[in-house]
Amino acid sequence: MKVRVGINGYGTIGKRVASAVAAQDDMELVGVTKTRPSYEAHLACAAGYPLYVARPEQVADFEKDGLKVEGTLDDLMEKVDIVVDATPGGVGEAYRPLYEKAGVKAIFQGGEDHGLAGVSFNAYANYSEAWGANFARVVSCNTTGLVRTLFPLDRDIGVKRVSATLVRRGADPSDNKGSALNSLEPSLKLPTHHGPDVQTIMPWVEITTMAVKAPTTLMHLHCIIADLKKGVKESDVLAAWKDVPRVKLVSGKQGIKGTANIMEMAKDLDRPRGDLMEIAVWQDGIKIVGSTLYYYQAVHQESDVVPENVDCIRSMMKMEPDAARSIKKTDDSLGIGK
Ligand SMILES: NC(=O)c1ccc[n+]([C@@H]2O[C@H](COP(=O)([O-])OP(=O)(O)OC[C@H]3O[C@@H](n4cnc5c(N)ncnc54)[C@H](OP(=O)(O)O)[C@@H]3O)[C@@H](O)[C@H]2O)c1
Repeated sequence: MKVRVGINGYGTIGKRVASAVAAQDDMELVGVTKTRPSYEAHLACAAGYPLYVARPEQVADFEKDGLKVEGTLDDLMEKVDIVVDATPGGVGEAYRPLYEKAGVKAIFQGGEDHGLAGVSFNAYANYSEAWGANFARVVSCNTTGLVRTLFPLDRDIGVKRVSATLVRRGADPSDNKGSALNSLEPSLKLPTHHGPDVQTIMPWVEITTMAVKAPTTLMHLHCIIADLKKGVKESDVLAAWKDVPRVKLVSGKQGIKGTANIMEMAKDLDRPRGDLMEIAVWQDGIKIVGSTLYYYQAVHQESDVVPENVDCIRSMMKMEPDAARSIKKTDDSLGIGK
């Protein structure tokens, strides 16, 4: 029997998770909630996704716009086993009592605090920690990116200490809010929260981070310095990442000079929405000096957490005990790694 999934919050992350869930043969997308009858609501209907509204008073607006509404969020909760909450950061917290009352498991996103769910999730690093859990949080796009490359490095070589600078996109491409147009804005509260967030999954790793908001919408760029537990060669580092799912090695020599080229490559690969769900690491931008590793990686903030949500559902619903099998199933269904 398929696991029944609802999506609350159908924005940048929610609509992508909805498409990913709909692509799984062991899950049923029972419905998505919207608060406004925007074009995305019309596209959700056209895709055959049953539409629900967050609050009853919103029904009239949708019906005036010719949209069929199946019910409210409360109605949706009666029909699902698990909900993916992709509402704006901080809003998910207010919904937790509703999910709890309905007896529905919930996955929150990186905009919520670790304490809201008690389990922070990355499929490759700690799939089993969410096994059977009622609540979990898929960590943010930046944390997902850091964990995706640091976890295999630590496992294969050993990581003593990490220091990373995150050049963050100022806004998502469709946002009408965001960073200043012509300014780089450092995060003045230091070190930034990203290090402790990585430690919600890898508590044993010493990591500190700084961040700068940049006037770009495409991707985040991470500049990472890692003190390793032993002296190795660049080829050993590449070997640690080579077979890791959701890490994609790219090459400056082949013309991937920056984030714009990566996004173009994702379109050339015919990835849905032009997304790149893997973390892109420059294979010719890696340097070892003594036992210190320097590398760059790029994170497509709109999509890297999407497959993590799918695997998190499998772990929380006890559908597949083996992380690698869940990851492969998800990746095959979404064209990741092709
Ligand atoms: N965007 C990223 O780069 C990114 C990356 C990783 C994780 N995250 C995290 O993912 C979560 C969602 O972020 P997002 O970027 O997808 O936000 P978003 O694009 O603003 O989407 C959130 C959606 O939630 C809906 N919404 C607003 N208030 C609601 C409410 N009270 N009840 C139900 N739905 C409501 C809105 O849909 P309507 O159109 O219906 O109003 C909105 O489109 C946050 O925790 C964020 O930190 C974001």
